Amino acid sequence: MPNPISYAQNNRERHLAELIEFLRIPSVSTQPEHQADVQRAAEWLVESLTAIGLENTHLIPTAGHPLVYADWLHAPGAPTVLIYGHYDVQPAEPFDLWHSPPFAPTIRDDYLYARGASDDKGQVYAHVKAVEALLKSDGRLPLNVKFIIEGEEEMGGPSLSAFIPQQKELLAADVALVSDTAMVSPAQPSIVYGLRGMCYVMLDIYGPQRDLHSGTFGGGVDNPLNVLGHVIARLKDENGRVLIPGFYDRVRPLTDEERHLLAQYPFDEANWLAETGAPQPWGEPEFSLVERLGARPTLDVHGIIGGYTGPGGKTVLPAHVHAKFSMRLVPDQEPAEIQSLLEKYLADILPPTVTYELHWRGGAPASISDLHHPAMAAARKACQETYGRDPIFMREGGSIPVVGEFQTYLGLETVLLGFGLVSDQIHAPNERFYLPNYFHGIEASIRFFQSYGERD
Ligand code: BES
Ligand code: MN
Ligand code: MN
Repeated sequence: MPNPISYAQNNRERHLAELIEFLRIPSVSTQPEHQADVQRAAEWLVESLTAIGLENTHLIPTAGHPLVYADWLHAPGAPTVLIYGHYDVQPAEPFDLWHSPPFAPTIRDDYLYARGASDDKGQVYAHVKAVEALLKSDGRLPLNVKFIIEGEEEMGGPSLSAFIPQQKELLAADVALVSDTAMVSPAQPSIVYGLRGMCYVMLDIYGPQRDLHSGTFGGGVDNPLNVLGHVIARLKDENGRVLIPGFYDRVRPLTDEERHLLAQYPFDEANWLAETGAPQPWGEPEFSLVERLGARPTLDVHGIIGGYTGPGGKTVLPAHVHAKFSMRLVPDQEPAEIQSLLEKYLADILPPTVTYELHWRGGAPASISDLHHPAMAAARKACQETYGRDPIFMREGGSIPVVGEFQTYLGLETVLLGFGLVSDQIHAPNERFYLPNYFHGIEASIRFFQSYGERD
């Protein structure tokens, strides 16, 4: 029988074909018209997990999209790894910017182009194929595994958040393994040890009962759109410092050791700036760019709906306006506390000339992983053996809600072993997955299980 690594290498073509099948399912969690597709993606996974010999494979219905669970628990005395990923994807709009359709996966050069290729179907499926390689070549696993794969990550993970505190036993493990982040470069394996949390809100501001003529009424009735402008201007200053009182009270200061570690991070600022297309970098002057991107909280407005935006001019005071914005949080900021600080501040700064409603659209705590956990050493070894290089350890500015929740409710540390690339264009048109990273991901995952399973 071949060893698991050569099994994986001999089955690359089929492993790729299966991923392509998975990517054909448009499992966009936030769009109601794709609800049946999201369900189908979950069922497809259940079948695929069952086919490789996992047990207890089933869909867990929730108030939203189902969770997928599977396990293999026949390595008594060996540790248990909880593998998490998400099978939902971001909306693919705007479609016309895609060079090939988002749900017709296409290979160009060494990249597989499709919505969800890197975030997160390709990455989570690498672990499924690693488990297959181990089970098919050894007939057993070197440790116990549980898979929990959700279909709501891109909408903030509400059902899984509710599930975690209630299902501590089902999810109990020694460590969680998540591949849903990026490597610094194709040759440099990267382990993320910090993720930002988030609070997402929508603000509705109401003024007159209907749009008013701005000549007849302007100067006498306040304009909700102008009010929104003032509110946004008071949320943060021009250097990026958030002005909500108390916002920074719980921000854990960066230690000298960590600032030193982050300064070692091989960050190519020119390349990064070129990727953004912005004229120059921006942000809090007393922190480095790397610190600002991963270790400092932020506040950003994502969308404003209001007023007249059609062709030509229309002189109105709009009756109502709406803004969506979020705050990225760092340890030890708490989403619920940040929300109440924001509520108090808005009550202070919104004038009595309008009424408003604030809608809470989900929150997730930030996380910092324990770099001394034995699974970290196994991940380091797996990277070393697969890429011939030690991984670098970095903090990521994005959020994976479940990681902080695992820590809070299960006391579970997570190893974030990402196989994406910063240039994968996740959430954007032409998302792609670098195929060598898919195959290396499978191998690294096999080696991680072997190495972590062998520990005393
Ligand atoms: N996989 C990403 C998180 C991520 C982004 C990791 C960039 C590494 C680099 C995840 O799927 C994601 O998009 N998370 C959302 C969470 C939100 C919807 C609660 C995010 O960060 O915006
Ligand atoms: Mn993701
Ligand atoms: Mn995402």
